[in-house]
Amino acid sequence: MYKTVAEKLKISSFNQPIDKISSIDCIWIPLFSGKNVAKMTSVATSVNNFSQKAIERVLKSGDFTGKLGETLLLREVVGVKAKKILLVGLGEESSLDGKAFARAVCAAVSITAESLSIKKALSFLTQVKVKGRDNEWLTRTHVSETLRMLYKFEIFKTEQRAQGAAKGEKSHSDNIALKSLQISSPKNMSVAEFSRSIRSGICLANGVELTRDLGNLPPNVCTPGYIRDVAKRLARETSLKCEIFDRKKLEKLKMGSFLAVAQGSAQPPYMIVLSHNGGKAREAPIVLVGKGITFDSGGISIKPSAAMDEMKYDMCGAATVVGLMKTVAQSGIKKNVIGVVVTCENMPSGTATRPGDIVNSKSGRTIEILNTDAEGRLILCDALTYVERYKPKAVIDVATLTGACVIALGGVNTGLFSADNQLASALIDAGQKSLDPAWRLPLEEDYQELINSPFADVANVGGREAGSVTAACFLWRFAKNYPWAHLDIAGTAWLSGSKKNATGRPVPLLWEFISEY
Ligand code: BES
Ligand code: MN
Ligand code: ZN
Repeated sequence: MYKTVAEKLKISSFNQPIDKISSIDCIWIPLFSGKNVAKMTSVATSVNNFSQKAIERVLKSGDFTGKLGETLLLREVVGVKAKKILLVGLGEESSLDGKAFARAVCAAVSITAESLSIKKALSFLTQVKVKGRDNEWLTRTHVSETLRMLYKFEIFKTEQRAQGAAKGEKSHSDNIALKSLQISSPKNMSVAEFSRSIRSGICLANGVELTRDLGNLPPNVCTPGYIRDVAKRLARETSLKCEIFDRKKLEKLKMGSFLAVAQGSAQPPYMIVLSHNGGKAREAPIVLVGKGITFDSGGISIKPSAAMDEMKYDMCGAATVVGLMKTVAQSGIKKNVIGVVVTCENMPSGTATRPGDIVNSKSGRTIEILNTDAEGRLILCDALTYVERYKPKAVIDVATLTGACVIALGGVNTGLFSADNQLASALIDAGQKSLDPAWRLPLEEDYQELINSPFADVANVGGREAGSVTAACFLWRFAKNYPWAHLDIAGTAWLSGSKKNATGRPVPLLWEFISEY
């Protein structure tokens, strides 16, 4: 959409020994923490040897202990061709796992980005062994974490706009000083495999970034029509197929529950279908369904004002699906993947649904809308019925569905609901592998009675108890005809408060899942 971080920072491979470096502003050297002093890695030992023991002297001084995430910038070290050396702490060698590795990369990126004079960096962080992770993972994660760390959403800052305009660019220009990062090839990795892994990290980062951009955009810009246009443009630029369903077509499809949510808004609703046909024609697709409420005021059951602005993020499920489809398309994965987005705005008005309204869902079942703020499930249920036509291998919906999920799991884990144990454990594994974790919560018939309605087939809310579970149970009633899982990302899709920002989660989890399933 805008210039991506990967377009501003060129990431490439370095396949030579450490003494062959030239014209580099900064090299990143990993060190472990030891009993009293930091512990050398093999790269650190090499640098030490041709720098008249410069590293050893620093370690003896006690200025750097090697603890995880610690950094120290050294200038003009004799015998080293790079202008600066950044020592990067990995913590104890025996506890270096994937999460610790990612933390070290992030620390190196953020300290490097602070120094405006570093334009070209070279990382040797890939020269270590990480528990339970292979070289491919190490490379990919180094790349995607680097790009994620450098992401800034500044298109509405006048200064950035002016700088971009001066260079003839449409939007924010070079707000990143670092222009090139070379990553040294891990031992025992072929040149081809290494550059494939770098490329794979870039594909993931590009998807995450699109998801974050869409989430961060203000709700007066990121309307349902805007998401439709982004999806169309993405399809034009890649091999994706894009189908758009406007109000008329949604009426034809009898998506009465979805349309009921949209009817209070001046913004027209859309269902968007992006398809990637990378697999055999008859292979069952993996289908993703995203909640795209571009602003959730609550409708007539209006929300309190505090932090209501954050309800612009209520389309993060849709943003996840669109971003993920970008990664899917760019990677060229040989599988069939379909992304479905249902997007509208939830507003109070004279035409809005009222508490007590009974609507007809696409499934033929009636829904009593007791609370217009429980709108996510109302738009998703019709999409879940719609996707039956694909005879999917699995359907996963992604939604900022319940405040209760934020209370239960906070911003650490995405809530995962599924009656399919195999699918659930594949998603949990994918979350662990991608450092984008999910935690399984119960989905059981015993909760269903909480959403029985005296007048319609189902009510759209239960009581205060088990709010995330009853929301999942509602969706479950519409997802009986294929293996299905529901991801509640209300706590993980964005950060609140002073660090307010979309996270791009759970794109990494879902990309890992699609790659493996
Ligand atoms: N989009 C909200 C859920 C939400 C709230 C996500 C706060 C992140 C932070 C959803 O549409 C909603 O309003 N859910 C209600 C359901 C309730 C009325 C049963 C909720 O969680 O309060
Ligand atoms: Mn709501
Ligand atoms: Zn909502």
